[in-house]
Amino acid sequence: MYCVRNVTEDLYWVGANDHRLHLFENIHPIPRGVSYNAYLLLDEKTVLFDTVDWSACRQLLENVEHLLGERPLDYLVINHMEPDHGASIEEILLRWPQVKVISTEKSFLFMRQFGFQIDGHALIEVKEGDTQTFGKHTVTFVAAPMVHWPEAMVTFDTTNGVLFSADAFGSFGALDGKLFADEVNFDRDWIDDARRYLTNIVGKYGPHIQLLLKKAGTILDQIKYICPLHGPVWRKDLGYFIDKYDKWSRYEPEEKGVMIAYASMYGNTEAAAQALAAKLCEKGVTNVWVYDVSNTHVSYLVSESFRLSHIVLASVTYNLGIYPVMHDYLMHLKGLNLQNRTFALIENGSWAPKSGDLMQKFVDEELKNMTVLNDRLSIASSLHADKAAELESLADSIVESMQ
Ligand code: FEO
Repeated sequence: MYCVRNVTEDLYWVGANDHRLHLFENIHPIPRGVSYNAYLLLDEKTVLFDTVDWSACRQLLENVEHLLGERPLDYLVINHMEPDHGASIEEILLRWPQVKVISTEKSFLFMRQFGFQIDGHALIEVKEGDTQTFGKHTVTFVAAPMVHWPEAMVTFDTTNGVLFSADAFGSFGALDGKLFADEVNFDRDWIDDARRYLTNIVGKYGPHIQLLLKKAGTILDQIKYICPLHGPVWRKDLGYFIDKYDKWSRYEPEEKGVMIAYASMYGNTEAAAQALAAKLCEKGVTNVWVYDVSNTHVSYLVSESFRLSHIVLASVTYNLGIYPVMHDYLMHLKGLNLQNRTFALIENGSWAPKSGDLMQKFVDEELKNMTVLNDRLSIASSLHADKAAELESLADSIVESMQ
């Protein structure tokens, strides 16, 4: 059975939702599922914008066949060929062999690398600024390299102001009928998944997102809809989400607040983390979030690190090093290029505490534009009353740095 929704009078969402996939890119948990968005324009020509993951191909085909009826599919525009969107290209070519495929040079190269059988079909290579008219709709193609792969582009329909934004402005989470961001309480129910999606999938490429935002900025008043490849479509309050993307891609925190990430073997480092959290709240800083790195998937830790201004790393010493799971979290921060945060450190070690120095070295040498506060809480096995002054001083130092 088809499952489609109108975006505008002649543009339809023809994608699919996926609640079966546990790990997006086989790494990030998606407990709320994910959507693979594709869009069909019924103009004088019929145009499919992107396809879906192979697991959702049947739904895409039913949707497209239902809307086309007896009409042929004239064009297939591929903004992003990564297999979660491009895997159904071949099936489209098999069903509609006369379809003309529009994409970038690199995209066609990658399709061949992935083994898609595209040769022998009509392939139209486009670059920045090229246009195509489908009847009353004219679109412009805009390069969007590294948002999220190098071949990516976005397509802007200058007739009705629809921006097909590829991975940009996407989110984890299945739509489950609610296509538009204004049909959900986005700020309450979706923003965390949107942030986790952006920061973990495209976080590394902040400068490239900034370039795309700059291009979008020149036509901001003309953009009426943002149609991403995952998550809700935007038609109201676009500035809210554009502002979030701007902050995330500039590596600016959204909020003044403290994330305390702890690595604890027997609960003693955890107790120190909790004591600091209580102390901060006592001093009036209540935007405090405590996470056990062993029990929290790193994608959530990354997302919270992008959200908040301050990060406290509390780690046991393990094999004379940083606890491996904490180290993995730090490696993700490095890989995703997080910058401009203030760190504080808590170390624990029963006979040779090393984690503090090593975490300091990592933050200083491996991350960019970070500040590490001088006060450090160092504990031997567990926190005792004789450390009350150090704890107080660390909390004061964090509070002061937030002024
Ligand atoms: Fe949703 Fe980069 O693919």
